[in-house]
Amino acid sequence: MQQLVRYFVSLLLPALVLSHDNSYRLPNALKPLHYDLRILTRLNGAHNLSFEGYVKIDFKVLHRTRAITLHAKELTLDEAHITLSPSPNGSGSYSISRIERNNTRELYTMHLAGELQIDEQYTLSIPFSAPLNANNVGYYSSSFSDARTNQTHYLAATQFSPTFARLAFPCFDEPHLRATFRITLGYHKNYTGLSNTPVSKCVDHETLEHYVWCEHEPLLSTSTYLVAYAVHNLTSVPVLQSETHNNVSFRSWMPPNALKDSSFSVHFAPKVLSYLEKLFQFAFPLGKVDQLALPTHKFSAMENWGLVTFKETRFAHYAEETTQNKESKARTMAHEYAHQWFGNLVALNWWNDLWLKEGPSTYFGYLTLDALMPEWGSLQRGIANDLDTFFYKDMFNDTIAISQDVQDANSILNQFSSHVYEKGSLTMRMLHKLLGDEVFYIGIRSYLKRHAYGSVKQADLWQALQEAADLKSPSASDIRWATVMDSWTLQKGYPLLTVLRNYSSNTVWLNQTRFKLAADSVEHSCWWIPLTFVNQRQLNFNETQPQSWLECPSSGKTLRLTNDSSPKEWIMLNPQVNSLFRVNYDERNWRMIIKTLNSDQYDSIHILNRAQLLDDLLMLSSNREQSYDLAFAMLEYLPRESEPLPWNRVLGVLNNRGVLLRGEQERIFRIFMRKLVTPLFVRAPQLSSVELITKSSPLIALYRLAYRESCRYDVAECISRADRFRHDDELYLRSMQVPVDYRGIVDCTNIEQGNNKLFQSIFEQFQNTNDDPKKSAWATALGCSRDFGQLKPFLDYLMQATDKLAYDYYVQTVTSALERKHIATQIADYILQHAKAINSKFSLKQIQILLNKIIGDLITELEDNQLRQQLRGLDKCEAQLQAALDRRDTNRYWLTERAEHFIKALTKYT
Ligand SMILES: *[C@@H]1O[C@H](CO)[C@@H](O)[C@H](O)[C@H]1NC(C)=O
Ligand SMILES: *[C@@H]1O[C@H](CO)[C@@H](O)[C@H](O)[C@H]1NC(C)=O
Ligand SMILES: *[C@@H]1O[C@H](CO)[C@@H](O)[C@H](O)[C@H]1NC(C)=O
Ligand SMILES: *[C@@H]1O[C@H](CO)[C@@H](O)[C@H](O)[C@H]1NC(C)=O
Ligand SMILES: *[C@@H]1O[C@H](CO)[C@@H](O)[C@H](O)[C@H]1NC(C)=O
Ligand SMILES: *[C@@H]1O[C@H](CO)[C@@H](O)[C@H](O)[C@H]1NC(C)=O
Ligand SMILES: *[C@@H]1O[C@H](CO)[C@@H](O)[C@H](O)[C@H]1NC(C)=O
Ligand SMILES: *[C@@H]1O[C@H](CO)[C@@H](O)[C@H](O)[C@H]1NC(C)=O
Ligand SMILES: [Zn+2]
Repeated sequence: MQQLVRYFVSLLLPALVLSHDNSYRLPNALKPLHYDLRILTRLNGAHNLSFEGYVKIDFKVLHRTRAITLHAKELTLDEAHITLSPSPNGSGSYSISRIERNNTRELYTMHLAGELQIDEQYTLSIPFSAPLNANNVGYYSSSFSDARTNQTHYLAATQFSPTFARLAFPCFDEPHLRATFRITLGYHKNYTGLSNTPVSKCVDHETLEHYVWCEHEPLLSTSTYLVAYAVHNLTSVPVLQSETHNNVSFRSWMPPNALKDSSFSVHFAPKVLSYLEKLFQFAFPLGKVDQLALPTHKFSAMENWGLVTFKETRFAHYAEETTQNKESKARTMAHEYAHQWFGNLVALNWWNDLWLKEGPSTYFGYLTLDALMPEWGSLQRGIANDLDTFFYKDMFNDTIAISQDVQDANSILNQFSSHVYEKGSLTMRMLHKLLGDEVFYIGIRSYLKRHAYGSVKQADLWQALQEAADLKSPSASDIRWATVMDSWTLQKGYPLLTVLRNYSSNTVWLNQTRFKLAADSVEHSCWWIPLTFVNQRQLNFNETQPQSWLECPSSGKTLRLTNDSSPKEWIMLNPQVNSLFRVNYDERNWRMIIKTLNSDQYDSIHILNRAQLLDDLLMLSSNREQSYDLAFAMLEYLPRESEPLPWNRVLGVLNNRGVLLRGEQERIFRIFMRKLVTPLFVRAPQLSSVELITKSSPLIALYRLAYRESCRYDVAECISRADRFRHDDELYLRSMQVPVDYRGIVDCTNIEQGNNKLFQSIFEQFQNTNDDPKKSAWATALGCSRDFGQLKPFLDYLMQATDKLAYDYYVQTVTSALERKHIATQIADYILQHAKAINSKFSLKQIQILLNKIIGDLITELEDNQLRQQLRGLDKCEAQLQAALDRRDTNRYWLTERAEHFIKALTKYT
């Protein structure tokens, strides 16, 4: 599954209040074996959208019990007609004495007159009905209008992940409770019915005219959240045959309007599936895949086995769309198909290990994209981006571990955070780099094979990789991968490794601690840190397997360096930043690294390490571990740097500090930044020719960055280039002539420079389109305004919307505005005034971002209790508020303790 809209830096969920209350789990007395599901769907116009049917569940008794408990939510169960009988040839009937519903736990318990026998099988049959809901979960309705006929078409589709199958039929709705399914769908003949497997036969409905019952082929053992079906009147394109082992056939369905933009996705999917099949060496077990592009979708996409659903706007690749968006859509697709193995074939034991399906699917999604679309260079950029995100996020107090205990439906849903996706992906990459290609793939393949059709916890992955490592070199090491990796997945944050060289004895001394911005409290956490040295002479950045380890716990360690490390040359740890830790060296070693960076040999240091060195040294200076003079000495090499990744990283780090500054300090900072980005800007061609010059994604990324940051810091030439697209009556059309990848930046610059006509015309376009990526870019551009009077009607408009996406746009606009600070105070006031509405409409994630921005980063002068007073409308958000206050304290520490040094060091360069 892929979360929707990751256009903005996403949330910092506070450590959730964990409930260790097992009452949310199903009792383990029963094990479902098979479901027979029969559902009639009615799509008779807007006021009569409903379904009815029954489920027959065959289950086995593992422990004696007098009750059957399963999940059901918002379903009308026909209790009088529930039956329970022994199966298949048993006798006797069992009466239900009492029924108990618990809506909080979403459980339905049938107490029986007699006891169920161990090892016996029974069949439970429950008739039920419900309206199709409009919330994009469970079995829901959606609609689209056909531009040719101007007719509104209703359709019904499912979204069961993570805990919504129970809204569609009573079931044992936990991922490890796999069972086989036979699904029969009833609907009016004018519609098409789809499910995970193809239709095997159809018969006319016994009473309803023009209705049919179509039975689908049996589905192999699966978790309930992967079951899917749909009844719709979408348009399909001709079937494509993939080159997989059993030539899986692909059909894609979409509203007619999306047809012309869907070619990429239609053709990309079969290639992705067959690439992954070869990579994993495990044949995709189903005969067909339907891809369903739905007008509405709770997430971006969902990996249902054999019936993958997408939000329509995440499936279509529009002509007028940034390269970044196209890539991100292709990445979502690759992610969903990687799930066919990670999640579908091998299920989770429980949602605490959600990262075990989202992490690999994200990582293998990157690898797939890199293999199939190498010109995009997505892998390196994606990894660099994720490293950037987590080195930042995880240095605050309020971050979370990748794997966390979860119980109730809400905390399960909240578990779908960037930690399980992107940090999970970084964890897979870490294993890949540390084990090496060969061992990693042997381990991954044996893991899939061993656990196919079963379910796993993270120890099962460690075990498979351990065996593969032991096989390769039985004597080599006694490293226990389970111990090593648990230290990375069960703890929040990441370590700082301190490395002191003894140049005369050619040894190093190492120790570790958790890296936190404002190291206010000692945390006794530690990690198993892989030690892989690169030295200046050998430049062996490709050799990422650990030479040794810093254990956990350990009070420090001395290591002898090889003779290749001369005292006159630097050493470096963590080649390719294969693991998430920072390193602080002694000053002499830092100076030698800086010397190489400031030479023609700067690119002999791996690009990801260059980015990391900049980030590390700046953050270490933030923390008093090093001096800002040293950090800015490293920045001197930047004019040589021709790659976007190190630039992007360093600008991100500096902007995060700059946003905290005020007055004279801010003024000096802006002068410094203008100087810093000028050599970057000089590399960027004119906007009118930029598209002719490059179609390469890495260069587009470089030029976008150059324009964005240079216009932001008032590089005169940047503003005047952006401005050239301004003096025209047909403002909007005119701005459409800017190459699409740069349009958002040009719009932002013009709006920031006071172009009200452009603001108004974008506002108007915004209201007249459903194109999410476009709206997202516009929301950010409108936030560049310097005039609160201008921006307010837009914020009001978003606030009044009922579409949840509107609140994402709101967050983007506000983020953009707060980063620029022109109207920060008014915006903060505006948000405080609307606390009540925000409380009722926005998600906790959205609220967290807002609070972090207005309280954490703006360092509001209000005392805590005044703030709480102002924010009393936000009554469900105590944890979010506390996290924002903590962040403010951390940032205040930097302002009082370090900002002066920071400004003093950079003043030399202004
Ligand atoms: C919905 O449609 C069914 C079948 O067409 C009909 O029997 C039922 O009365 C309708 N319900 C409403 C509320 O219109
Ligand atoms: C439902 O479950 C919750 C959580 O375990 C419990 O607090 C509550 O009392 C239960 N409600 C009923 C009606 O049993
Ligand atoms: C299509 O339907 C909408 C609303 O139902 C109506 O306003 C519009 O005029 C119709 N357009 C055409 C071309 O029939
Ligand atoms: C089904 O299709 C037929 C022929 O295209 C049409 O006349 C009829 O109105 C449709 N029925 C429904 C319920 O949409
Ligand atoms: C489905 O679409 C077809 C062709 O576009 C049309 O003939 C049919 O009436 C539609 N059915 C419904 C239920 O709208
Ligand atoms: C690590 O070593 C450095 C340098 O000797 C020392 O300042 C620091 O306190 C040590 N940290 C820990 C957590 O032991
Ligand atoms: C390191 O690996 C990359 C990618 O596989 C390759 O292009 C490069 O030549 C290698 N460098 C060295 C020094 O082996
Ligand atoms: C971080 O958390 C620790 C322990 O949970 C707490 O003592 C400390 O005050 C927090 N620091 C900040 C800056 O909020
Ligand atoms: Zn996913």
